[in-house]
Amino acid sequence: MATFPSRILVTGGSRGLGLEFVRQCLARGDAVLAACRDPAGAPALAALADEAGDRLRVHALDVSDAASRASVREVVAAHWGAIDRIIHNAGVLVRDERLGALDPAAFREAFETNALAPLLLTEALLPLLGEGRAPAVAFITSQLGSIARTDRFYTPSYAMAKAALNMAGRLLAEPLHAAGIAGVLLHPGWVRTAMGGPQAPLEPREAVAGLLAVIDALPRDGAMRFLDYRGEELPW
Ligand SMILES: NC(=O)c1ccc[n+]([C@@H]2O[C@H](COP(=O)([O-])OP(=O)(O)OC[C@H]3O[C@@H](n4cnc5c(N)ncnc54)[C@H](OP(=O)(O)O)[C@@H]3O)[C@@H](O)[C@H]2O)c1
Repeated sequence: MATFPSRILVTGGSRGLGLEFVRQCLARGDAVLAACRDPAGAPALAALADEAGDRLRVHALDVSDAASRASVREVVAAHWGAIDRIIHNAGVLVRDERLGALDPAAFREAFETNALAPLLLTEALLPLLGEGRAPAVAFITSQLGSIARTDRFYTPSYAMAKAALNMAGRLLAEPLHAAGIAGVLLHPGWVRTAMGGPQAPLEPREAVAGLLAVIDALPRDGAMRFLDYRGEELPW
């Protein structure tokens, strides 16, 4: 089996920050498994595959689907035999929620996608990650999941789900450390993507460069930190 600097799984690789993670990891020589819901509907990934050859594999993954998560584990096992990094990037944000017209379905979807899926996918890949080289898991969360910073009723399904993701990360700190795996919860900044919107001050390129630098420099001390793309601590 050919070896590369790192074997990395990126979820939600079709666009936005996920696509930029795929781009930058390929550019530095990593092997990337780009997981997205609809590979046929992700032309930017297909274009990257043309250049990257066998360093890029595109795989269908709906993170909220158990069979889909199991199929990723199978692909990783068959193709690499181990994995060095997981970047849990896939996420959903419902706009224009307001008190008085809340939709329970939006909360369920946000919880499934943003909180439960990263926990269960980590669980599924744990043995393969434990076999990785300097293995690490990054959970892309949001400062909107910070309970300490919350001072208004804003994006409740998203904020509650990201707060739950932060708890999932803290819960995983001990078992990850026991398996020799570093972990981190990362806020990417406010970034110009479909989710961040056109007013966002940061380009995906800058946010992802910062996030990858933070992941690469993670101390392996068992702590699960909540950091932004510059490596600065955020309040829980
Ligand atoms: N942009 C910001 O300012 C900002 C700020 C804080 C945190 N974040 C976090 O950063 C991450 C990436 O956000 P983004 O700005 O790049 O958003 P985006 O442009 O809206 O992209 C979201 C990505 O998640 C994927 N996704 C959604 N549900 C999925 C599912 N069930 N299974 C698999 N993939 C799924 C989407 O895939 P499809 O193409 O199939 O829809 C898409 O690739 C998210 O976790 C988000 O919460 C972003």
